[in-house]
Amino acid sequence: MFNDQSYKEVFMPHHLIDIHDFTREEIAALIALGEDIIVRPQDYQDSAARKKLATLFFEPSTRTRLSFEAAMLDLGGSVLGVASEDSSSAAKGESVADTIRTVQCYADIIAMRHPKEGAPLVAAKHATVPIINAGDGGQNHPTQTLTDLFTLHREFGQLHGLTIGLCGDLKFGRTVHSLIAAMARYPGVHVVLISPNELTAPDYVIDMIKRHGATYEECRTMESVMPKLDALYMTRVQRERFFNEEDYIRLKDSYILNMEKMSLAKKDMMILHPLPRVNEIDLEVDSDPRAMYFKQAKYGMYIRMALLSSILGAGDKNA
Ligand code: NCD
Repeated sequence: MFNDQSYKEVFMPHHLIDIHDFTREEIAALIALGEDIIVRPQDYQDSAARKKLATLFFEPSTRTRLSFEAAMLDLGGSVLGVASEDSSSAAKGESVADTIRTVQCYADIIAMRHPKEGAPLVAAKHATVPIINAGDGGQNHPTQTLTDLFTLHREFGQLHGLTIGLCGDLKFGRTVHSLIAAMARYPGVHVVLISPNELTAPDYVIDMIKRHGATYEECRTMESVMPKLDALYMTRVQRERFFNEEDYIRLKDSYILNMEKMSLAKKDMMILHPLPRVNEIDLEVDSDPRAMYFKQAKYGMYIRMALLSSILGAGDKNA
């Protein structure tokens, strides 16, 4: 069993709404726990026994919802939930607060995805059980960030000193916002923001980079920056957040990563993508050993196991 005392002392906030709800030390502890779970899964198979996770997903999802559910099942717990807004009373006009007051009668922990920014925070204010933000509108996606950090850490052995490129829809991409917020706190990190003029990162994200003392640059093309990147985080253009379809069509293929562009990259540059992919990574790149996105999706399950068992375990301790 994972038995690092410092880990137990620093953990654990009740809810996870924003990646900054965790300190760097807490993230390091979660990563260490995720590593241990991969090596000794049998030690964790009853960590969530007799506990229930409710997944409330009011927006489409494949990886996040299923990896949460698989994680809970592998910890010996059970899952229940709704997979779309249409199939819940939200479609009848129920408020987030009332939904949460109800669902917490049936579950010990809730993972919520919602199209409105801030909805999981509202949920947390009304909840007596832990709420995990599984993506809120164009704002935050902290558990994807834990997945991304876990993947980077597994491959590079550290998070400080990395030069990371983020490419695509930096305006609406919630995975990008949370990942930048997390990475900016590690010494020596350099962030390269690659996007069309219309899809640049919001000012609050840039301010966060500056506040934490990381360095950054913004550019419009991939080619010039490829050689310096340790990791490249590709993202799809977020169609559902656009006000008009014409703008989406004009911008959707702004960047397509192919083998020609990969030939400019370092031999060990890591390609990440939160998925789903639309067009932004050519299929020919999938067989390149630097393509990590499907492995990343798998790591997402282990780090969610670490997260669920930690939050539920801390709850027991405080009981
Ligand atoms: C992302 C999301 O939902 O924000 N997907 C995911 O959770 N893995 C990225 C996206 O939808 O583009």
